[in-house]
Amino acid sequence: MNKKPKHVAIIMDGNGRWAKQQGKQRVMGHNQGAHAVREIVEAAAEEGIEYLTLFAFSTDNWNRPKEEVSILMKLLVNSLKREFRKLIKNNIKLNSIGDIELLPIPVKEELQYVIQKTKNNSGMKLTLALNYGAKEELTRAVRAIAFKVKNSIISPEKVDQSTIIEHLYTRNLPLVDLLIRTSGEERISNFLLWHIAYAELYFTKTLWPDFAKEDLHKALLNYGKRERRFGKTSEQVNA
Ligand code: IPE
Ligand code: IPE
Ligand code: MG
Repeated sequence: MNKKPKHVAIIMDGNGRWAKQQGKQRVMGHNQGAHAVREIVEAAAEEGIEYLTLFAFSTDNWNRPKEEVSILMKLLVNSLKREFRKLIKNNIKLNSIGDIELLPIPVKEELQYVIQKTKNNSGMKLTLALNYGAKEELTRAVRAIAFKVKNSIISPEKVDQSTIIEHLYTRNLPLVDLLIRTSGEERISNFLLWHIAYAELYFTKTLWPDFAKEDLHKALLNYGKRERRFGKTSEQVNA
């Protein structure tokens, strides 16, 4: 019924539980999770997905033990360094959403470097959500719009949905068609509230480090069977 989703977003969850299952430290789960990222980025590009957005670190993840946060940050720098060439080779354009100013300097610099180097790539748009929280994003947008209204740059009656979108981190992204969350949790955890307004939700018990090409394919097949009505009736949609 449905075509391929244009924009797929993933809440990559379950690294810690994967490690626990194997009797390993949480860090091993994150390491294995990084492998899964590599595989899924490639698989998504092969599937012809135009936009892939990955939730990598939330504004609330700063509340984890300091050592875990620091390991996650190191893993990020290393992954960016290691994957850089592959992104170029696969024509993938990297971007980020979230407040990257608060990331450790090496992470921020490596990220900006790769974003800069891939900016002319015309293939899949890969977006990493880093220090991202949807409530923070909406709050920033409201604050920015309030300033513009105060300084008479926008008149209040002109504030509409597109004004809001223009002030989001996600302003250059289309609305999400398919949102996948691994690990069995069925919640949004402050991810992309505006952009998932009409997303199809797909939850799988598979832990993120085990999430492979076939699992992505299965999610896409499932999406393909759904009828998206956007408030209309089924008859209208199928007319
Ligand atoms: C997802 O796995 C990775 C991040 C949130 C950075 P978790 O680390 O949340 O794994 P669980 O939920 O503890 O299993
Ligand atoms: C959401 O996972 C954030 C990322 C995947 C980066 P969490 O593991 O932080 O979410 P909760 O705490 O279980 O809701
Ligand atoms: Mg988790």
